[in-house]
Amino acid sequence: MNNDSKIILTGIKPTGMPHIGNYIGALKPLIEKSQTNKTFVFIADLHALNSIHDAKEIRQHTYEIAALFVALGLNLDNAILFRQSDIDAVYKLNTFLMNVTPKGLMNRAHSYKAMLEKNAAANRDPDADVNMGLYTYPILMSADILLYNADIVPVGADQKQHVEFARDIAEYFNRTYGNVFRLPEPQIGINNGIIPGLDGRKMSKSYDNTIPLFAPANELKKKIMRIITDSKLPNDKKNPDESTIFLLYKHFANADEIATMRDMFENGKIGYGDAKKMLFEKIDSVLSAPRAKYEYLMAHTDELDSILAAGAARARDTANDTINRVQHAMLG
Ligand code: TYM
Repeated sequence: MNNDSKIILTGIKPTGMPHIGNYIGALKPLIEKSQTNKTFVFIADLHALNSIHDAKEIRQHTYEIAALFVALGLNLDNAILFRQSDIDAVYKLNTFLMNVTPKGLMNRAHSYKAMLEKNAAANRDPDADVNMGLYTYPILMSADILLYNADIVPVGADQKQHVEFARDIAEYFNRTYGNVFRLPEPQIGINNGIIPGLDGRKMSKSYDNTIPLFAPANELKKKIMRIITDSKLPNDKKNPDESTIFLLYKHFANADEIATMRDMFENGKIGYGDAKKMLFEKIDSVLSAPRAKYEYLMAHTDELDSILAAGAARARDTANDTINRVQHAMLG
């Protein structure tokens, strides 16, 4: 199979405005792939349910993600953009997969283990704040991936284990019931799938160190000026590859601009304050047209409803075909 015939899939949870880490780690690679490959892109609203219990909020965030993908140039001829909960087959497949998934696999999931550690540190019951949606999260995620015969799943490092679980679960299933599922592979982006945030740790809402993708210019600037650096002076030589400023700049600038900033860092021609200003101006100029389109779409959610309905209809064709094969294999 050549690379252009591979099926690409990824999902993103509607839990608020995505940040630049989500964008560089998963959204941008997916949008690029959508120019050449069949891609499935979905808004994982069922996955958001384990943390958000307000329907209005989930609905609003779902529109935000849909608007964002369209505004950033997802190719809607090749890409099927849809809401996870619109496809009934995913609930069915989730139930079917429960029965071939060892409980031990769920015990090993990083996200669940992180909760256990957090509770232990706070001297709380190990399973405090763990609902079954969180505990079985990787099974639903496997259903998402296997339902659409995905070959490649672009994700950040934090989701790699979940994609590997989907592959493990598909293998258990195929061993028992014959060759029903295609085996997916995670595709981890640059910097080993970890885009750093303002404080140098992984960019994540839980660390409060994010740069929102479509923040207003003054907020964007304020955030960028907060990026933590070492104490080197403007004339000191600096290693650009150890700098969050340069790492983020690389994803928005062209080759000449990147070479210029690299030279400035390596030869002591720029201070961090000025480098941050360059980064702000670059991000602001690259994202200003998509931000305007995003704002237009958020004011015309009926257009988003039509895009999501068309996407669901296309996704359903593939999903129904898979679920029929699974049901036949398991129940005859
Ligand atoms: P979510 O919504 O938390 O994140 C969306 C994507 O962004 C990546 N990401 C990062 N990449 C690099 N550096 C960072 N600092 C960073 N922070 C986040 C995430 O790894 C992810 O790829 N469970 C998924 C949603 C999902 C899904 C799926 C993904 C549901 N079903 C099936 C792929 C396939 C999630 O919560 O992602």
